[in-house]
Amino acid sequence: MNNHLVENPKIIELPKVLDKRGNLSFFENVNQIPFAIKRTYWIYDVPGGESRGGHAYHENEEFIVALSGSFDVILDDGIEKETYSLNRSYYGLYVPQLYWREMNNFSTNSLALIVSNTQFEENDYIRDYEVFLLIKNDK
Ligand code: TYD
Repeated sequence: MNNHLVENPKIIELPKVLDKRGNLSFFENVNQIPFAIKRTYWIYDVPGGESRGGHAYHENEEFIVALSGSFDVILDDGIEKETYSLNRSYYGLYVPQLYWREMNNFSTNSLALIVSNTQFEENDYIRDYEVFLLIKNDK
């Protein structure tokens, strides 16, 4: 298990260095996000109307930023769903483990940056919603 306290999902506002030449934002271990980063991936070229995700993770935690464009992240804790609309490159969504997550409503040319606390491990995925509910109810 993780050695830090499991937190709730939350939108985190990132630092913004405003400049006439263009703005700059950043996040770093572990000042802006509540875990040490082991992996970075990004989702791009999503055709209109497509959705991504549709799974949960046992151990993986994520921080999701709409670097460009916009999309929605729907988080489901097994009881209720909450939709987070990401549309600014200086806001990110922290997603703890054991949340069923979907991403949809991608705008044209949107770019989703995702950092996480684990390396890719297919065994960490929960891809069956009924299994997800069983695990949640067991907690
Ligand atoms: P998946 O996580 O199911 O995509 P999404 O949640 O966006 O719908 O991953 C899609 C495929 O990409 C799957 O075959 C696993 C592979 N993959 C990697 O190889 N490395 C990674 O870091 C990620 C996130 C996925």
